[in-house]
Amino acid sequence: MKTGIIGYGSMGKMLLWKFSESGISKQDLYASNRTIEKLEEAKDIAQVVSAKELAEVCDITFVCVRPADIKTVLEEIKDDIKEGALVVSLNGSISFEAISKITDCSTAKVIPSLTAEIGRSQTLVCFNSKVSSNQKTALKSLLSSIGNVIELPENEMGMGSELVSCMPGFIASIFDVICNSAKKHTEIPDDQIVKMVLQTMSATGDLMLQKDMTFEDVVRRVATPGGITEEGTKVVYEEFPGTADKIFEKTLEKRRQTAAKNK
Ligand SMILES: NC(=O)c1ccc[n+]([C@@H]2O[C@H](COP(=O)([O-])OP(=O)(O)OC[C@H]3O[C@@H](n4cnc5c(N)ncnc54)[C@H](OP(=O)(O)O)[C@@H]3O)[C@@H](O)[C@H]2O)c1
Repeated sequence: MKTGIIGYGSMGKMLLWKFSESGISKQDLYASNRTIEKLEEAKDIAQVVSAKELAEVCDITFVCVRPADIKTVLEEIKDDIKEGALVVSLNGSISFEAISKITDCSTAKVIPSLTAEIGRSQTLVCFNSKVSSNQKTALKSLLSSIGNVIELPENEMGMGSELVSCMPGFIASIFDVICNSAKKHTEIPDDQIVKMVLQTMSATGDLMLQKDMTFEDVVRRVATPGGITEEGTKVVYEEFPGTADKIFEKTLEKRRQTAAKNK
């Protein structure tokens, strides 16, 4: 099976190198990019070709370009897509309906997260009605090389993306704010504060997953009634819900705007 990646930016580069590391040989791995020189570094792991050449030979073609460029790429390759091939868009906001106006081939949408870098992506996938069960299995097996794969209906890909793909950014920004606040009250060096919080954050996630604990369980175990932690958790439960609502209102609205622009 031949796999191709069009677009060698943040996502395309990550997928290309991860697929190569997972054992796909250069013979079966293809790459294309608008600025072709960027692919010089990938010449030992993939065949560097034009987008049209890639679509002609690949059984699965990943389109890893920004929303504004997706239609251009699909228009460019639509007459060359290999018979029976699966085209995969990396963008959750461009609908299957919009894609079908350009090409009526089997199409999937895939949303990886940055944590794929350490093989721990929670990758979302959804399929249009033309995708066969063999194609679904092949794509899911390919994606399992970067972490877990979660299939969702198309209408849940927006919120799903917020929960796995945007979430590393949300988590990083929230804990950046917390660390900056902590720095105002201590002489502990900044980098040590960040490491202490990161290790605790990561261990809390593992603890909850391994011991099947809920957020409430953790809060109950740490925040004894009338104790010090409770003073902090009360502030979070009183003040943060409004901010959390605003985060999702803003991101989901941006998604709706992107989808409307690319109908
Ligand atoms: N970043 C994330 O965490 C993330 C997560 C999930 C999904 N996504 C989605 O993944 C897609 C790609 O995002 P990204 O962050 O990887 O974008 P990016 O870093 O901006 O990379 C886009 C790449 O597409 C190439 N490109 C643009 N037009 C092209 C064309 N006509 N033919 C061939 N290549 C072309 C660009 O080439 P040049 O080198 O010439 O600029 C660039 O290398 C987006 O739809 C995004 O919504 C991103």
